[in-house]
Amino acid sequence: MDYGDVDLLQQIVVQVRERSSLEPRIAVLLGTGLGGLAERIEAEVTIPYQDLTGMPVSTAESHKGELILGRLCGVPTVAFSGRLHAYEGHSLQEVVVPVRLAKLLGAETLIMASACGGMNPHYDVGEVAVLVDHINLLGGNPLVGRNDERLGGRWPDMIEPYSESLIAAAERAALSQQVRLHEAVYVAVLGPCLETRAEYRMLRVLGADLVGMSTVPETIAAVHCGMRVLAFGIVTDRCLPDALEPANIAKIIEAANSAEPVLAGLISHVLEHEFTT
Ligand code: HPA
Repeated sequence: MDYGDVDLLQQIVVQVRERSSLEPRIAVLLGTGLGGLAERIEAEVTIPYQDLTGMPVSTAESHKGELILGRLCGVPTVAFSGRLHAYEGHSLQEVVVPVRLAKLLGAETLIMASACGGMNPHYDVGEVAVLVDHINLLGGNPLVGRNDERLGGRWPDMIEPYSESLIAAAERAALSQQVRLHEAVYVAVLGPCLETRAEYRMLRVLGADLVGMSTVPETIAAVHCGMRVLAFGIVTDRCLPDALEPANIAKIIEAANSAEPVLAGLISHVLEHEFTT
């Protein structure tokens, strides 16, 4: 299937539109341990991915796989609870289906949050960072293949992958809520295993503060189709090569869950100040 094809994506949009006509302004994509944010949405409809013919289905632990149309802080929102990852065997084109659906449903802004390994030694577990740039080490790109010009141009530039005005809004939110918010460069790796000490050392040398297995394909697809992106990373484990401790997925999910209220506070503040006109 060519998931870069607008006609194919429209077949999914039609099924969503049979259930709701709500036109979202923002799209929210939630990662590991952060599904709780979706519960803050006043949902008009909740559609399991399985009910949408043509929709790739998420298998990752703690990811529910639902499309929610409703309001978050009064702002019309489409949320995707259940991230699709390349390590599940999805192609990068499949991974970015939610982003493109959001765009076709009307959303102009993409807000994401995900669990990350913290390689910057100043970062503590449970702290939140706003992404300011990224490095793609997935070994692929969601834009590979035929380019459907109805989505965007063949060679989008990546001069501002993360919206500077939304980063500033997130920083104002953090200041007003007295929350520490790092500015991070995120590197995306394929996974599913975590990195070796030598790999963490290399990724740090490359200039990354956070490492994770998501976000970058979605950002690329969003930039391609002209959406602004605001992405947060939750530090769920510290990745210090010379003091590395065994990580476990339960602890990672617990750390993500514990940061969820802070993240929700930041996102709410941004929505209330930037999107309620
Ligand atoms: N590496 C990659 N992805 C991650 C990590 C990590 O250490 N922690 C949480 N997501």
